[in-house]
Amino acid sequence: MILATNFKSNLTRAKTVEYLEKVEAYCEENSISDEVMIFPPASALCEKSLHVSVGAQNAFGVVNGAFTGELALDQLQEFGIKTILIGHSERRHVLGESQELIAEKFNFYKEQGFRIVYCIGEPLEVREEGNSALLAYLDAQYKGIDLSYKNLVIAYEPVWAIGTGLTPTLDDVELIHGAIREETSAALLYGGSVKAESAKSFLALDNVDGVLVGSGALNPDDFCSMIRDAASLQ
Ligand code: 13P
Repeated sequence: MILATNFKSNLTRAKTVEYLEKVEAYCEENSISDEVMIFPPASALCEKSLHVSVGAQNAFGVVNGAFTGELALDQLQEFGIKTILIGHSERRHVLGESQELIAEKFNFYKEQGFRIVYCIGEPLEVREEGNSALLAYLDAQYKGIDLSYKNLVIAYEPVWAIGTGLTPTLDDVELIHGAIREETSAALLYGGSVKAESAKSFLALDNVDGVLVGSGALNPDDFCSMIRDAASLQ
């Protein structure tokens, strides 16, 4: 399974180092074999530890150049970063990234052999239109994305579930992951208001290969509890 946490614009570099040490020690002491990833803010990027990979929340699809405010491949390589999150709903909807730009980033980091966690998910008004509208919306988010890329992980994160405390029902998650599974053999993560208390029920579902957690994993003890729950399901 894959346990991933996205810090977004939370935690400092110092707090990230503490966090990483704590999670690394937990994985070591408990011989964790699941894949564990953290996505800290850009100011806290650092080398991978033994069990925990460190990924970038965003980067431009170039080696380097004149792109004010963006990180590029050179800056990621300095820390040995080989994992990236692409298509997150906050980048799509708050920062206005188009599908075209997202696909460009995807193709650049695919060429570099990165592990890509590619996020998809529908807003509430689409959800309210029913399942066929929802799946058509997700289909549009596959445009320009190679769903057979071997280092691809897909995170299904309904926009209305992110940071709201709301989640789809377990049956809904299973249904949507089943539909995504028909398109790709990539590992499928569920994200959106996953908490320490609820992670296990998502992880136990068919076609859920892991979770991508924001606020519910800002405390490393909560993230370790999710890692423990995943290990107990094996
Ligand atoms: P929350 O867990 O805070 O809902 O955020 C989920 C998310 O966006 C992870 O990428």
